[in-house]
Amino acid sequence: MLRVYLFLVVAILALQLGSTDENTVELNLHGFVGGSVKMSCKLEQPKNVNQLYFQKKDSDGKVTFINGFYSKILDVLPEFQNRTIVNRAELSMELLNLSPADEGEYTCIPFINSVPSQKTNFHLKVTANYSAPTITVQGCGSGAAAHNCVIECSSAGGFPHSNITWSVVGSNLRLLLKDEEDPVNVMDTHSQLWNVSQVITLNCSQPINISCSVGEVVSYAVSVCPSSDTLDIRILIACAVLLLVSIVIIVFAVKKCRRTQLPGDHTTDAELVSLNLRQAG
Ligand SMILES: *[C@@H]1O[C@H](CO)[C@@H](O)[C@H](O)[C@H]1NC(C)=O
Ligand SMILES: *[C@@H]1O[C@H](CO)[C@@H](O)[C@H](O)[C@H]1NC(C)=O
Ligand SMILES: *[C@@H]1O[C@H](CO)[C@@H](O)[C@H](O)[C@H]1NC(C)=O
Ligand SMILES: *[C@@H]1O[C@H](CO)[C@@H](O)[C@H](O)[C@H]1NC(C)=O
Ligand SMILES: *[C@@H]1O[C@H](CO)[C@@H](O)[C@H](O)[C@H]1NC(C)=O
Ligand SMILES: *[C@@H]1O[C@H](CO)[C@@H](O)[C@H](O)[C@H]1NC(C)=O
Repeated sequence: MLRVYLFLVVAILALQLGSTDENTVELNLHGFVGGSVKMSCKLEQPKNVNQLYFQKKDSDGKVTFINGFYSKILDVLPEFQNRTIVNRAELSMELLNLSPADEGEYTCIPFINSVPSQKTNFHLKVTANYSAPTITVQGCGSGAAAHNCVIECSSAGGFPHSNITWSVVGSNLRLLLKDEEDPVNVMDTHSQLWNVSQVITLNCSQPINISCSVGEVVSYAVSVCPSSDTLDIRILIACAVLLLVSIVIIVFAVKKCRRTQLPGDHTTDAELVSLNLRQAG
C-alpha cells in the first residue's frame, strides 16, 4: 500500500516537472530599494556559452530585454544601461539601484554553441524598510469623554503597502479601543514608497503602555495615559492654587473697599465742620 502511494507521489511529481519547462531552475531573490541583486544563471555545464540574455516579464505578459552578451553589441534600454553589470565569466547580471518597479519575473536564457540551454527564472521581490513608527497623543476628550484619548501611529518610506498593528503591553487592545479610523496610506510618486498612519481612540482611564508596528518594524512602547494618581495630585494642586488666589483677591478687595470709604467719611466730617463754623459765624 505504502509503495503504491509512494509510486503515485513520484508519478505526480514527475508529471508536474514535465508540465513546466523541463530544466528551468526557479530562484527567489530579495533586494532592498536602493540596493542591488545579482542574478546568477544556473547551468549544469556552464561551458561554451556564447550568448546570454536576461529578460523581464511584466505582470501583463510583456517581455523586455534587459542585458546580456552576444557576438554583436546589444541594444540596452537607457534605464538599464548604467544599472546592470553583466559578468561573462560568472554568467551573471547585477541589477543596481533597485526601485519598487524592478519587482517581477526575470529569466536568464543562455545559448551553448548557439543552442538555447537551461533557463533560470528569478522571482525578484523588492522591499523598503519602514521607518521606526512614532506614537503621538493628539489629545483627550473633555467632560464625560475626558478618558478618551486620540493616539496616532505613523511611519514613512516603506514598500510594499502595509497596515499598522497596535499592541498594548499586558492588556488586550480590543478592551480599550473606543474608535479606530482606517489607516491612511500615501505613496510618494517619485520614490514609489509609502507613508502610513492610523488614528485610534482609547479608553485612557488607566495608564497604558502602547506600541505599534508597520511591516516588521516596531515602535518603542509609549506610556500614553496619565496615571490617575498624578491626575488627582494635579487637580488638588490646581484647587489649592485657585483657593489661595481667591483668598488673596478677597483680602485685597476688602482692603481697597475700606480705603475708598475713609475719604468719604472725611468729606462728611469736613462739611459738618464747615457747617458748624458757618453757624458759629
Ligand atoms: C549612464 O552613464 C553615463 C556616464 O556616466 C552618462 O553619460 C549617461 O547619461 C547615463 N545614462 C543614463 C540613462 O542614465
Ligand atoms: C531592513 O530590515 C531588516 C530586518 O530588520 C534588516 O535585516 C535589513 O538589513 C534592513 N534593510 C535595510 C536596507 O536597512
Ligand atoms: C490592511 O487591512 C485591510 C482591512 O483590514 C485589508 O483589506 C488589507 O488586505 C490589509 N493590507 C495589507 C497589506 O495587509
Ligand atoms: C512621507 O513622510 C515623510 C517623513 O515624514 C515626509 O517627508 C514625506 O513628505 C511624506 N510623503 C508623502 C507623500 O506624504
Ligand atoms: C474604561 O476602562 C475601565 C477599566 O480600565 C473600565 O472600568 C471603564 O468602564 C471603561 N470606560 C468606558 C467608558 O468604557
Ligand atoms: C509602562 O512602562 C513603564 C516604563 O517602562 C513601567 O514603569 C510601567 O510599569 C509600565 N506600565 C504598564 C501599565 O505596563
